[in-house]
Amino acid sequence: MTVTQRPASSAIQVTRSSEQPSHRRPNVSSVDDSDLLPRAWEFLDLCHREIPDQLGGLRRRWAEVRREVAETGTYRHTRAELVFGARAAWRNSVRCVGRIRWPTLVVRDARGVTGARQVYRELVRHLRFATNGGRIRSTITIFAPDDWLGPRVRIWNEQLVRYAGWRERDGGVLGDPRYAGFTEQALRRGWRPPDPRGRFDLLPWIIETAGDEPRAYAVPRRAVLEVPLRHPEFAWFADLGLRWHAVPVISNMRLHIGGIDYSAAPFNGFYLGDEIASRNLSDADRYDQVKAVARGMGLTLGSDRTLWRDRAVVEINRAVLHSFDVAGVTMADHHSEAKHFMRFADREETAGRCPYADWSWINSHVVPPQAPTFHRLWPNVEVQPNFWLDDTARALARGEDTGTTLRQFRASVSVRPGC
Ligand code: ARG
Repeated sequence: MTVTQRPASSAIQVTRSSEQPSHRRPNVSSVDDSDLLPRAWEFLDLCHREIPDQLGGLRRRWAEVRREVAETGTYRHTRAELVFGARAAWRNSVRCVGRIRWPTLVVRDARGVTGARQVYRELVRHLRFATNGGRIRSTITIFAPDDWLGPRVRIWNEQLVRYAGWRERDGGVLGDPRYAGFTEQALRRGWRPPDPRGRFDLLPWIIETAGDEPRAYAVPRRAVLEVPLRHPEFAWFADLGLRWHAVPVISNMRLHIGGIDYSAAPFNGFYLGDEIASRNLSDADRYDQVKAVARGMGLTLGSDRTLWRDRAVVEINRAVLHSFDVAGVTMADHHSEAKHFMRFADREETAGRCPYADWSWINSHVVPPQAPTFHRLWPNVEVQPNFWLDDTARALARGEDTGTTLRQFRASVSVRPGC
Protein backbone atom coordinates (compact mmCIF):
# COMPACT_ATOMS: atom_id res chain seq x y z
CA MET A 1 0.00 0.00 0.00
CA THR A 2 1.40 3.40 -0.89
CA VAL A 3 0.86 6.72 0.73
CA THR A 4 -1.31 8.72 -1.60
CA GLN A 5 -1.72 11.91 0.29
CA ARG A 6 0.34 13.91 2.71
CA PRO A 7 -1.12 15.96 5.49
CA ALA A 8 -1.22 19.68 4.86
CA SER A 9 1.59 21.54 6.50
CA SER A 10 0.54 23.12 9.74
CA ALA A 11 2.31 24.68 12.68
CA ILE A 12 -0.46 23.73 15.03
CA GLN A 13 -0.63 20.68 17.23
CA VAL A 14 -3.69 18.80 18.23
CA THR A 15 -4.77 19.95 21.65
CA ARG A 16 -3.33 17.60 24.19
CA SER A 17 -5.55 15.91 26.60
CA SER A 18 -4.22 13.62 29.25
CA GLU A 19 -7.74 12.87 30.30
CA GLN A 20 -9.75 10.34 28.35
CA PRO A 21 -13.31 11.08 27.36
CA SER A 22 -15.77 10.11 30.05
CA HIS A 23 -16.72 6.51 29.59
CA ARG A 24 -16.53 5.12 33.07
CA ARG A 25 -20.23 4.42 33.34
CA PRO A 26 -20.91 1.03 31.83
CA ASN A 27 -23.42 1.99 29.22
CA VAL A 28 -23.45 5.74 28.98
CA SER A 29 -20.86 7.54 26.90
CA SER A 30 -19.57 11.02 26.62
CA VAL A 31 -22.27 12.83 24.71
CA ASP A 32 -23.09 15.46 27.29
CA ASP A 33 -23.07 19.18 26.64
CA SER A 34 -20.33 20.04 29.11
CA ASP A 35 -17.87 18.01 27.11
CA LEU A 36 -19.28 18.05 23.65
CA LEU A 37 -18.88 21.63 22.50
CA PRO A 38 -15.25 22.14 23.52
CA ARG A 39 -14.32 18.85 21.91
CA ALA A 40 -16.28 19.66 18.79
CA TRP A 41 -14.51 23.00 18.57
CA GLU A 42 -11.07 21.42 18.95
CA PHE A 43 -11.87 19.00 16.17
CA LEU A 44 -13.37 21.55 13.77
CA ASP A 45 -10.37 23.77 14.35
CA LEU A 46 -8.11 20.85 13.47
CA CYS A 47 -10.12 20.13 10.32
CA HIS A 48 -9.89 23.78 9.42
CA ARG A 49 -6.12 23.58 9.57
CA GLU A 50 -5.73 20.26 7.80
CA ILE A 51 -8.63 19.98 5.35
CA PRO A 52 -9.76 23.60 4.96
CA ASP A 53 -11.12 23.12 1.45
CA GLN A 54 -13.44 20.37 2.65
CA LEU A 55 -14.75 22.14 5.73
CA GLY A 56 -16.46 25.04 4.00
CA GLY A 57 -15.48 27.79 6.44
CA LEU A 58 -14.80 27.32 10.11
CA ARG A 59 -17.14 30.07 11.35
CA ARG A 60 -20.11 28.82 9.40
CA ARG A 61 -19.53 25.20 10.38
CA TRP A 62 -19.06 26.11 14.03
CA ALA A 63 -22.32 28.07 14.08
CA GLU A 64 -24.06 25.12 12.44
CA VAL A 65 -22.70 22.63 14.96
CA ARG A 66 -23.63 24.83 17.92
CA ARG A 67 -27.15 25.16 16.62
CA GLU A 68 -27.45 21.42 16.03
CA VAL A 69 -26.17 20.65 19.53
CA ALA A 70 -28.60 23.16 21.05
CA GLU A 71 -31.50 21.60 19.18
CA THR A 72 -30.68 17.89 19.33
CA GLY A 73 -28.01 17.46 22.02
CA THR A 74 -25.49 16.20 19.47
CA TYR A 75 -24.21 16.87 15.96
CA ARG A 76 -23.50 14.87 12.86
CA HIS A 77 -20.09 14.80 11.22
CA THR A 78 -19.96 15.61 7.55
CA ARG A 79 -18.52 12.88 5.37
CA ALA A 80 -15.23 14.80 5.08
CA GLU A 81 -15.00 15.24 8.86
CA LEU A 82 -15.70 11.58 9.44
CA VAL A 83 -13.02 10.49 6.99
CA PHE A 84 -10.46 12.89 8.34
CA GLY A 85 -11.41 12.12 11.95
CA ALA A 86 -10.93 8.38 11.49
CA ARG A 87 -7.60 8.86 9.74
CA ALA A 88 -6.41 11.25 12.44
CA ALA A 89 -7.44 8.71 15.09
CA TRP A 90 -5.10 6.22 13.44
CA ARG A 91 -2.36 8.84 13.18
CA ASN A 92 -2.70 9.45 16.93
CA SER A 93 -2.59 5.79 17.97
CA VAL A 94 0.60 5.71 19.99
CA ARG A 95 0.89 1.93 19.97
CA CYS A 96 0.74 1.50 16.20
CA VAL A 97 4.00 1.22 14.29
CA GLY A 98 2.27 1.22 10.87
CA ARG A 99 0.93 4.75 11.03
CA ILE A 100 2.68 6.01 7.92
CA ARG A 101 -0.35 4.68 6.06
CA TRP A 102 -2.89 6.77 7.95
CA PRO A 103 -3.88 8.88 4.92
CA THR A 104 -4.81 5.73 2.98
CA LEU A 105 -7.45 4.48 5.42
CA VAL A 106 -10.67 3.65 3.57
CA VAL A 107 -13.63 4.89 5.57
CA ARG A 108 -16.94 3.06 5.15
CA ASP A 109 -19.79 5.14 6.44
CA ALA A 110 -22.37 2.84 8.03
CA ARG A 111 -23.82 5.42 10.42
CA GLY A 112 -27.30 4.64 9.21
CA VAL A 113 -26.96 1.04 10.35
CA THR A 114 -28.50 0.30 13.73
CA GLY A 115 -30.06 -3.19 13.47
CA ALA A 116 -28.03 -6.29 14.38
CA ARG A 117 -28.74 -8.14 11.12
CA GLN A 118 -27.60 -5.17 9.09
CA VAL A 119 -24.53 -4.79 11.26
CA TYR A 120 -23.74 -8.42 10.55
CA ARG A 121 -24.04 -7.87 6.79
CA GLU A 122 -21.79 -4.83 6.94
CA LEU A 123 -19.17 -6.75 8.86
CA VAL A 124 -19.12 -9.43 6.18
CA ARG A 125 -18.72 -6.70 3.56
CA HIS A 126 -15.95 -5.10 5.56
CA LEU A 127 -14.05 -8.39 5.72
CA ARG A 128 -14.39 -9.02 1.99
CA PHE A 129 -13.44 -5.49 1.03
CA ALA A 130 -10.46 -5.31 3.40
CA THR A 131 -9.20 -8.78 2.46
CA ASN A 132 -9.36 -8.03 -1.26
CA GLY A 133 -8.03 -11.46 -2.22
CA GLY A 134 -4.89 -10.90 -0.14
CA ARG A 135 -4.02 -7.34 -1.21
CA ILE A 136 -5.22 -6.00 2.10
CA ARG A 137 -6.82 -2.58 2.29
CA SER A 138 -6.71 -0.62 5.53
CA THR A 139 -10.38 -0.09 6.25
CA ILE A 140 -12.76 1.17 8.92
CA THR A 141 -16.54 0.75 9.03
CA ILE A 142 -18.27 3.29 11.22
CA PHE A 143 -21.67 2.38 12.64
CA ALA A 144 -24.26 4.61 14.32
CA PRO A 145 -22.70 6.95 16.89
CA ASP A 146 -23.58 6.69 20.57
CA ASP A 147 -26.39 8.91 21.78
CA TRP A 148 -27.02 10.35 25.23
CA LEU A 149 -27.85 6.86 26.48
CA GLY A 150 -24.56 5.41 25.29
CA PRO A 151 -23.72 2.90 22.57
CA ARG A 152 -26.36 1.96 20.03
CA VAL A 153 -24.27 -0.76 18.43
CA ARG A 154 -21.74 -2.96 20.16
CA ILE A 155 -19.58 -5.79 18.85
CA TRP A 156 -18.32 -7.89 21.74
CA ASN A 157 -15.47 -9.53 19.84
CA GLU A 158 -11.98 -8.16 20.22
CA GLN A 159 -11.36 -8.87 16.54
CA LEU A 160 -13.64 -9.97 13.73
CA VAL A 161 -11.58 -13.08 13.08
CA ARG A 162 -10.40 -15.08 16.06
CA TYR A 163 -10.18 -18.72 17.03
CA ALA A 164 -12.16 -20.49 19.73
CA GLY A 165 -10.53 -21.80 22.88
CA TRP A 166 -12.09 -25.04 24.15
CA ARG A 167 -11.47 -25.74 27.83
CA GLU A 168 -10.70 -29.39 28.36
CA ARG A 169 -11.14 -31.61 31.40
CA ASP A 170 -7.45 -31.75 32.18
CA GLY A 171 -7.33 -27.95 32.48
CA GLY A 172 -5.78 -27.47 29.05
CA VAL A 173 -7.31 -25.52 26.18
CA LEU A 174 -7.72 -26.65 22.59
CA GLY A 175 -7.32 -23.63 20.32
CA ASP A 176 -6.60 -20.10 21.50
CA PRO A 177 -6.74 -19.92 25.32
CA ARG A 178 -7.20 -16.14 25.15
CA TYR A 179 -10.74 -16.71 23.91
CA ALA A 180 -11.83 -19.53 26.17
CA GLY A 181 -14.19 -17.19 28.06
CA PHE A 182 -15.55 -15.65 24.88
CA THR A 183 -16.09 -19.10 23.39
CA GLU A 184 -18.29 -20.07 26.36
CA GLN A 185 -20.18 -16.81 26.11
CA ALA A 186 -20.78 -17.42 22.38
CA LEU A 187 -22.29 -20.81 23.22
CA ARG A 188 -24.58 -19.15 25.76
CA ARG A 189 -25.58 -16.65 23.08
CA GLY A 190 -26.73 -19.33 20.68
CA TRP A 191 -23.63 -20.34 18.72
CA ARG A 192 -23.73 -23.79 17.22
CA PRO A 193 -20.09 -24.88 17.29
CA PRO A 194 -18.40 -27.04 14.67
CA ASP A 195 -18.17 -30.73 15.28
CA PRO A 196 -15.54 -31.99 15.87
CA ARG A 197 -13.91 -29.07 17.62
CA GLY A 198 -10.47 -27.99 16.48
CA ARG A 199 -7.61 -25.63 17.18
CA PHE A 200 -8.69 -23.05 14.63
CA ASP A 201 -12.48 -22.79 14.82
CA LEU A 202 -13.73 -19.38 13.75
CA LEU A 203 -15.53 -17.63 16.56
CA PRO A 204 -18.92 -16.10 15.79
CA TRP A 205 -19.63 -12.41 16.26
CA ILE A 206 -21.68 -11.33 19.23
CA ILE A 207 -23.60 -8.24 18.19
CA GLU A 208 -25.98 -6.19 20.28
CA THR A 209 -27.79 -2.98 19.50
CA ALA A 210 -30.19 -0.60 21.17
CA GLY A 211 -33.02 -2.73 19.83
CA ASP A 212 -31.49 -6.23 19.64
CA GLU A 213 -30.37 -8.38 22.54
CA PRO A 214 -26.83 -9.77 22.15
CA ARG A 215 -26.70 -12.83 19.94
CA ALA A 216 -24.05 -14.93 18.24
CA TYR A 217 -23.80 -14.77 14.45
CA ALA A 218 -21.71 -17.38 12.66
CA VAL A 219 -19.07 -15.89 10.39
CA PRO A 220 -19.25 -17.12 6.80
CA ARG A 221 -16.13 -19.19 6.16
CA ARG A 222 -15.76 -17.78 2.69
CA ALA A 223 -15.37 -14.25 4.01
CA VAL A 224 -12.27 -15.27 5.97
CA LEU A 225 -8.91 -15.67 4.30
CA GLU A 226 -6.43 -17.85 6.18
CA VAL A 227 -2.84 -18.78 5.49
CA PRO A 228 -1.51 -22.26 6.28
CA LEU A 229 1.96 -21.92 7.76
CA ARG A 230 5.07 -23.59 6.48
CA HIS A 231 8.77 -22.87 6.65
CA PRO A 232 11.06 -22.06 3.71
CA GLU A 233 13.48 -24.85 4.75
CA PHE A 234 11.99 -27.05 7.45
CA ALA A 235 9.51 -29.37 5.72
CA TRP A 236 8.31 -30.71 9.10
CA PHE A 237 7.02 -27.27 10.07
CA ALA A 238 3.87 -27.78 7.97
CA ASP A 239 3.04 -30.85 10.08
CA LEU A 240 2.51 -28.61 13.10
CA GLY A 241 -0.79 -27.79 11.40
CA LEU A 242 -0.56 -24.07 12.13
CA ARG A 243 -2.43 -21.37 10.28
CA TRP A 244 -3.45 -17.77 10.82
CA HIS A 245 -6.03 -15.38 9.47
CA ALA A 246 -4.98 -12.74 6.99
CA VAL A 247 -6.63 -9.61 8.38
CA PRO A 248 -6.56 -8.27 11.94
CA VAL A 249 -9.83 -6.31 12.33
CA ILE A 250 -10.04 -4.74 15.78
CA SER A 251 -13.72 -4.55 16.59
CA ASN A 252 -14.17 -3.40 20.19
CA MET A 253 -12.38 -0.06 20.37
CA ARG A 254 -14.39 3.12 20.54
CA LEU A 255 -13.59 5.78 17.97
CA HIS A 256 -13.76 9.24 19.47
CA ILE A 257 -13.97 12.23 17.13
CA GLY A 258 -14.78 15.77 18.22
CA GLY A 259 -16.86 14.79 21.25
CA ILE A 260 -18.76 12.08 19.40
CA ASP A 261 -18.29 8.41 20.26
CA TYR A 262 -18.59 5.61 17.76
CA SER A 263 -18.65 2.50 19.94
CA ALA A 264 -18.80 0.25 16.89
CA ALA A 265 -16.11 1.15 14.37
CA PRO A 266 -14.14 -1.97 13.42
CA PHE A 267 -10.86 -1.19 11.66
CA ASN A 268 -7.93 -3.04 10.17
CA GLY A 269 -4.51 -2.52 8.76
CA PHE A 270 -2.41 -5.51 7.84
CA TYR A 271 -0.28 -7.78 9.95
CA LEU A 272 3.28 -7.38 11.03
CA GLY A 273 4.66 -10.95 10.89
CA ASP A 274 5.96 -10.66 14.39
CA GLU A 275 2.48 -10.21 15.92
CA ILE A 276 1.51 -13.67 14.79
CA ALA A 277 4.88 -15.38 15.14
CA SER A 278 6.33 -14.00 18.38
CA ARG A 279 3.08 -13.50 20.24
CA ASN A 280 -0.01 -15.36 19.01
CA LEU A 281 1.87 -18.56 18.24
CA SER A 282 4.66 -18.28 20.81
CA ASP A 283 3.16 -16.86 24.01
CA ALA A 284 2.80 -19.55 26.68
CA ASP A 285 -0.82 -18.50 27.23
CA ARG A 286 -1.64 -18.54 23.51
CA TYR A 287 -0.60 -21.27 21.04
CA ASP A 288 2.65 -21.94 22.91
CA GLN A 289 4.57 -23.40 19.96
CA VAL A 290 8.14 -22.51 20.90
CA LYS A 291 9.05 -25.87 22.39
CA ALA A 292 7.50 -27.83 19.55
CA VAL A 293 9.46 -25.83 17.01
CA ALA A 294 12.70 -26.07 18.98
CA ARG A 295 12.28 -29.85 19.15
CA GLY A 296 11.63 -29.98 15.44
CA MET A 297 14.88 -28.08 14.92
CA GLY A 298 16.68 -30.69 17.00
CA LEU A 299 17.67 -28.17 19.69
CA THR A 300 18.37 -29.20 23.27
CA LEU A 301 15.82 -27.57 25.52
CA GLY A 302 17.81 -27.79 28.74
CA SER A 303 19.70 -24.57 29.23
CA ASP A 304 18.36 -21.11 28.48
CA ARG A 305 21.90 -20.11 27.55
CA THR A 306 21.84 -22.03 24.30
CA LEU A 307 19.21 -19.49 23.20
CA TRP A 308 16.97 -22.28 21.94
CA ARG A 309 13.91 -20.14 22.57
CA ASP A 310 15.27 -17.24 20.58
CA ARG A 311 16.25 -19.49 17.70
CA ALA A 312 12.84 -21.13 17.58
CA VAL A 313 11.00 -17.79 17.68
CA VAL A 314 13.11 -16.47 14.81
CA GLU A 315 12.22 -19.54 12.73
CA ILE A 316 8.51 -19.11 13.49
CA ASN A 317 8.88 -15.52 12.26
CA ARG A 318 10.49 -16.75 9.08
CA ALA A 319 7.72 -19.27 8.53
CA VAL A 320 5.00 -16.65 8.96
CA LEU A 321 6.61 -14.15 6.58
CA HIS A 322 7.35 -16.86 4.05
CA SER A 323 3.84 -18.32 4.14
CA PHE A 324 2.11 -14.95 3.75
CA ASP A 325 4.43 -14.08 0.87
CA VAL A 326 3.77 -17.38 -0.88
CA ALA A 327 0.01 -16.93 -0.37
CA GLY A 328 0.19 -13.39 -1.79
CA VAL A 329 -1.19 -11.84 1.40
CA THR A 330 0.04 -8.40 2.42
CA MET A 331 2.25 -8.50 5.49
CA ALA A 332 4.87 -6.20 6.98
CA ASP A 333 8.15 -7.24 8.57
CA HIS A 334 9.52 -5.43 11.59
CA HIS A 335 12.63 -4.08 9.88
CA SER A 336 10.83 -2.31 7.05
CA GLU A 337 8.06 -1.23 9.39
CA ALA A 338 10.52 0.40 11.79
CA LYS A 339 12.01 2.34 8.88
CA HIS A 340 8.53 3.40 7.81
CA PHE A 341 7.85 4.56 11.31
CA MET A 342 10.96 6.75 11.28
CA ARG A 343 9.69 8.29 8.07
CA PHE A 344 6.25 8.79 9.59
CA ALA A 345 7.81 10.57 12.59
CA ASP A 346 9.81 12.80 10.24
CA ARG A 347 6.73 13.69 8.26
CA GLU A 348 4.80 14.54 11.38
CA GLU A 349 7.55 16.89 12.47
CA THR A 350 7.73 18.46 9.03
CA ALA A 351 3.98 19.07 9.26
CA GLY A 352 4.49 20.85 12.59
CA ARG A 353 3.08 18.06 14.71
CA CYS A 354 4.77 16.07 17.43
CA PRO A 355 4.90 12.35 16.72
CA TYR A 356 3.71 10.56 19.82
CA ALA A 357 4.52 6.93 20.48
CA ASP A 358 4.42 4.25 23.12
CA TRP A 359 8.00 3.02 22.86
CA SER A 360 7.30 -0.37 24.41
CA TRP A 361 4.69 -1.18 21.75
CA ILE A 362 6.63 0.23 18.83
CA ASN A 363 9.61 -1.92 19.78
CA SER A 364 8.00 -5.18 20.80
CA HIS A 365 9.45 -7.47 18.16
CA VAL A 366 12.35 -9.89 17.87
CA VAL A 367 15.75 -8.30 18.53
CA PRO A 368 14.51 -4.71 19.02
CA PRO A 369 17.94 -2.99 19.05
CA GLN A 370 18.30 -3.88 15.38
CA ALA A 371 15.53 -1.42 14.54
CA PRO A 372 16.09 2.36 14.36
CA THR A 373 12.99 2.98 16.52
CA PHE A 374 14.74 1.34 19.48
CA HIS A 375 17.20 4.20 19.66
CA ARG A 376 14.67 7.01 19.74
CA LEU A 377 12.11 8.07 22.28
CA TRP A 378 8.96 10.03 21.48
CA PRO A 379 6.55 11.53 24.00
CA ASN A 380 3.79 9.12 24.87
CA VAL A 381 0.71 11.33 24.81
CA GLU A 382 -2.79 10.39 23.73
CA VAL A 383 -4.41 13.15 21.71
CA GLN A 384 -7.75 13.18 19.96
CA PRO A 385 -9.26 11.96 17.72
CA ASN A 386 -8.30 8.49 18.91
CA PHE A 387 -9.38 4.94 19.61
CA TRP A 388 -10.07 3.85 23.18
CA LEU A 389 -10.61 0.50 24.79
CA ASP A 390 -13.24 0.80 27.50
CA ASP A 391 -13.32 -1.44 30.55
CA THR A 392 -16.72 -2.74 29.50
CA ALA A 393 -15.48 -3.61 26.01
CA ARG A 394 -12.48 -5.38 27.50
CA ALA A 395 -14.68 -7.42 29.83
CA LEU A 396 -17.08 -8.41 27.04
CA ALA A 397 -14.18 -9.58 24.88
CA ARG A 398 -13.13 -11.89 27.73
CA GLY A 399 -16.61 -13.37 27.71
CA GLU A 400 -17.93 -11.64 30.80
CA ASP A 401 -21.51 -10.44 31.05
CA THR A 402 -22.08 -6.78 31.87
CA GLY A 403 -25.34 -7.51 33.61
CA THR A 404 -27.48 -5.10 31.65
CA THR A 405 -27.78 -5.20 27.89
CA LEU A 406 -28.07 -2.01 25.86
CA ARG A 407 -31.71 -2.74 25.23
CA GLN A 408 -32.55 -3.38 28.88
CA PHE A 409 -30.66 -0.30 29.94
CA ARG A 410 -32.59 1.89 27.53
CA ALA A 411 -35.87 0.40 28.61
CA SER A 412 -35.02 1.21 32.23
CA VAL A 413 -34.42 4.91 31.56
CA SER A 414 -37.57 6.96 31.43
CA VAL A 415 -36.29 10.55 31.51
CA ARG A 416 -35.35 12.34 28.32
CA PRO A 417 -32.74 15.06 28.01
CA GLY A 418 -34.14 18.40 29.08
CA CYS A 419 -36.95 16.80 31.11
N1 ARG B 1 -1.67 -8.00 17.61
C1 ARG B 1 -2.98 -8.27 17.10
C2 ARG B 1 -3.04 -9.70 16.59
O1 ARG B 1 -2.10 -10.40 16.64
C3 ARG B 1 -3.38 -7.33 15.99
C4 ARG B 1 -3.35 -5.87 16.33
C5 ARG B 1 -3.44 -4.96 15.14
N2 ARG B 1 -2.34 -5.18 14.23
C6 ARG B 1 -2.20 -4.59 13.04
N3 ARG B 1 -1.17 -4.92 12.32
N4 ARG B 1 -3.06 -3.72 12.59
O2 ARG B 1 -4.01 -10.14 16.05
